[in-house]
Amino acid sequence: MPTLGVKVKEPVTFVIFGATGDLTRRKLLPALYTLFRDNALPEAFDIIGFARRKHDDRSFCELMQDALREHSRTPVDDASLAEFCSHLSYHRGDLSDPAAFKTLNERFNGNDSLPANRLFYLSIAADLVEQTVSQMHAAELITQPKASPWTRVVVEKPFGGDLQSAQVLNQILLTHLDESQIYRIDHYLGKETVQNILSFRFANTIFEPVFNRTYVDHIEITAAETAGMESGRGAFYDRTGALRDMVANHLFQLLCFVTMEPPDGLDARAIRAEKIKILHALRPAAALPGHPAGCFGQYTGGDGVPAFREEDRVAPDSTTETFAALRMEINNWRWASVPIYLRTGKRMPKKSTEIAIQFRIPAMQLFQHVACAGDVCDLTGVKPNTLIFRIQPDEGIFLQVSAKRPSMQLVVEGVDMDFSYSEKWNKELPEAYERLLLDAMRGDSTLFTRSDEVEAEWTVIEAIRNATKDQPLAPYAAGSWGPPEADAVMLSSGWKNE
Ligand SMILES: NC(=O)c1ccc[n+]([C@@H]2O[C@H](COP(=O)([O-])OP(=O)(O)OC[C@H]3O[C@@H](n4cnc5c(N)ncnc54)[C@H](OP(=O)(O)O)[C@@H]3O)[C@@H](O)[C@H]2O)c1
Repeated sequence: MPTLGVKVKEPVTFVIFGATGDLTRRKLLPALYTLFRDNALPEAFDIIGFARRKHDDRSFCELMQDALREHSRTPVDDASLAEFCSHLSYHRGDLSDPAAFKTLNERFNGNDSLPANRLFYLSIAADLVEQTVSQMHAAELITQPKASPWTRVVVEKPFGGDLQSAQVLNQILLTHLDESQIYRIDHYLGKETVQNILSFRFANTIFEPVFNRTYVDHIEITAAETAGMESGRGAFYDRTGALRDMVANHLFQLLCFVTMEPPDGLDARAIRAEKIKILHALRPAAALPGHPAGCFGQYTGGDGVPAFREEDRVAPDSTTETFAALRMEINNWRWASVPIYLRTGKRMPKKSTEIAIQFRIPAMQLFQHVACAGDVCDLTGVKPNTLIFRIQPDEGIFLQVSAKRPSMQLVVEGVDMDFSYSEKWNKELPEAYERLLLDAMRGDSTLFTRSDEVEAEWTVIEAIRNATKDQPLAPYAAGSWGPPEADAVMLSSGWKNE
């Protein structure tokens, strides 16, 4: 039995458009290699890399072997690399050239050993998607929906840059494909801890009854990155910014998982039906005196770190935000009036993605609360219970509670109840791309984003833009937790993981 617990049975041919690119090298091939080594791939599978650069099967294989030696989390050895390579081939072509697609189709039709089920991975820039899908259609590479052999198309983010462009992209995709054939990938949803949010909420009796406005004071979702514009990301990021790059997909999806109603099953239909309700009810909170609904920042340089405006391929007068802090609310029965704080930024002090659910403090205070270093204790304010889902790194779930400190006095101190993946199971978690590629092969779209979700996400982003259009861009020092002005977004004091 594969250690990932799954073996795909149906034969499949992967076609990776953009096979010489960064994503293929760093994520897709390493994920496929790990699945191969884990015996999770079907007995019959082929991987065809499609790009313009000059390669034959052999030199492409060497390029991919180098990538695997550098990026694979599974140990590589010459024998298994050679075996993996026997499933790889290269199809040189330009996405604008119909002949390249015609010859690709001939490979399916002319070579009996190529599995007829096809999974196309669009690892290409967003502006190439339209012509690629049209070319696939014209070359008759797309089979009928819900038929055998099947066609599935994995689309990488960004899914548009605003509501209008997202609608155009959806229209393009849906002209040639059925929604059931489209797999919009958000790699955050492939992470074990994100999926565990649902198990934690709905496989236990004790948490769900308190996940509502009666017991929850507020929710904070943070995705902090230490990275800046390394690996030539400057041009892309300068066009995109924190709101579009992180909030519009990753943070909204985490928010959906933690706040959605119990689904009536675990299939894609049931889960997406609940997520879309949250997205429709989500909106920026009203600005209050001294408390704007949002704050946007851009990092300045120092200590050998360039300012955002000095980064490679970033405009020297760029007004793109590299930090966003938002106060949101969900206008439904369960969450009305509970502030939801979202925060994300580049060049933060540590890399950390987590969701903190802070509960209300008890109605009556019977105890004194202390914080201690050794035996020296200071009185503190009341520490509310906080439930933390740590998405990365050190994946786990933590519950902060108050417990009596051993002493003659009746004082309480905050303690953590920890569940850490690495301590409990002592094994590396699967990479998000491994899980998501397996799901796409198995036809399970639960962890992929549907077209109406994408459009609902952009509708909320537009509402945020409108609600915060008077907020000036605030500078913050690289290596800090963002501009001081961001503190005012919170109604209570202090962001959780500072
Ligand atoms: N890299 C990441 O970590 C990451 C993360 C999330 C999402 N994404 C998304 O994934 C997609 C790919 O990103 P990437 O970083 O891998 O980009 P990249 O390194 O620039 O690679 C782009 C690929 O597209 C191929 N290509 C470009 N124009 C072509 C054409 N006319 N005909 C045929 N092939 C063409 C290039 O190959 P040739 O030059 O050989 O033709 C190359 O293989 C983008 O949509 C990006 O937003 C990337």
